[in-house]
Amino acid sequence: MTDSLRRYHITTFGCQMNKADSERMAGILENMGFAWSESPDEANVILYNTCTIRDNAEQKVYSYLGRQAKRKHEQPDLTLIVAGCVAQQEGESLLRRVPELDLVMGPQHANRLQDLLEQVFAGNQIVATEPVHIFEDITKPRRDSAVTAWVNVIYGCNERCTYCVVPNVRGVEQSRTPEAIRAEMEELGRQGYKEVTLLGQNIDAYGRDLPGATADGRHLHTLTDLLYFVHDVPGIDRLRFATSHPRYFTERLIRACAELPKVCEHFHIPFQSGDNEVLKAMSRGYTHEKYRRIIDMIRRYMPDAAISADAIVGFPGETEAQFENTLKLVEDIGFDQLNTAAYSPRPGTPAALWDNQLSEDGKADRLQRLNHLVATKAAERSLRYGGRIEEVLVEEPNPKDSAQVMGRTRGNRLTFFEGNIEQLRGQLVQVKITEARAFSLTGEIVPQGERLGNVQPACV
Ligand code: SAH
Ligand code: SF4
Ligand code: F3S
Repeated sequence: MTDSLRRYHITTFGCQMNKADSERMAGILENMGFAWSESPDEANVILYNTCTIRDNAEQKVYSYLGRQAKRKHEQPDLTLIVAGCVAQQEGESLLRRVPELDLVMGPQHANRLQDLLEQVFAGNQIVATEPVHIFEDITKPRRDSAVTAWVNVIYGCNERCTYCVVPNVRGVEQSRTPEAIRAEMEELGRQGYKEVTLLGQNIDAYGRDLPGATADGRHLHTLTDLLYFVHDVPGIDRLRFATSHPRYFTERLIRACAELPKVCEHFHIPFQSGDNEVLKAMSRGYTHEKYRRIIDMIRRYMPDAAISADAIVGFPGETEAQFENTLKLVEDIGFDQLNTAAYSPRPGTPAALWDNQLSEDGKADRLQRLNHLVATKAAERSLRYGGRIEEVLVEEPNPKDSAQVMGRTRGNRLTFFEGNIEQLRGQLVQVKITEARAFSLTGEIVPQGERLGNVQPACV
């Protein structure tokens, strides 16, 4: 292989954790001298970073892989990699299913890509799925955005929700040290990034595996402590974090968010179901009453905060009345955004083995009913933005209209307005909202001189 031919392609499926891992793996490949190829067909190294949260996510990977596996017969020096959660779940059996694969690597091995690839180039077929301590990555990630960045703070998950593969495929919780997180953010600030999203599958668990408990067993390192520790990083104007688990959400955290000006007024707190029996069967560790109390508390401190969540319909045994409790919760709370899914039985999870599974049609029907309500409520929530002036961090051109740019409000609403991306990328601007749709807004930029006295307080 000559140098001019060393090109790589990564396709990423799944959640923000996978996106962050892909950015680090791309950084490693570029450090090794590979150049990005938009098309997999022109790449010598193809990496699929996979997701297995639901069956349809897993199946997608096999159809992508099939095509490239065929290509490998004409181009034997093609290197095919499956990384991420399907790799971890299937391990060796992926090699039996797709013998053309060179490397199968679980998410905990993302930072070891160079080492693993060198073994592949030495002629080996490698499966790396054993649990490991995740080492700090020393190369620079190749980030998709020049404005906003993900920063992992905790890997893995120690919960055991009965429907979920994540603990099986992501392993036990491993927190990065506050110092390593701050150092990465300082570097981002120096490079001109404006917004950081701190990431963890269960971010409220941050720090509980780090040494340093107080005498009464409390942890010195919590997410709240981390927010105070990093909020003054120069250059970073906005901080977000996801995903929060209702079981661990604290008033102290909400107070910190209200107090720290860089922390955006948006909370992503999945509730999964509005019914206590279902929540119990899911092993979520809270009731819908507790969830409602959390939202009430957030709204007491930050009346305008945006709330988003995830929900599952058609969990095994879910009755019509129990499903209606989910509808009721959505009706009562009024989410700004809700990711909904029909329950999908996953290998190696307890609920997949239960004999009270619902029919696919029944689940699809509930999903449609919930989605309808979600869109109605989100449209209602969006109306409050009409006529307001919102702070927008400009990220990219509007892919559908190059005369417009797009960015997000502090509440995470996608916002479009006319402007020149070259001048505005990475800028925090005030935008007067002229049109509010369920999940996005349109507005016009407020010239600087007119802003004074007219700015909506970001949080009250
Ligand atoms: N750690 C987060 C969510 C991680 S997975 C939390 O605890 O809330 C992202 C979302 O996928 C979940 O919130 C859930 O709504 C959905 N999900 C997970 N397993 C699923 C399954 N087996 N079927 C359908 N949806 C699922
Ligand atoms: Fe899955 Fe539950 Fe962990 Fe979230 S908290 S990743 S739903 S096991
Ligand atoms: Fe999917 Fe793995 Fe994320 S299963 S949702 S990519 S943790």
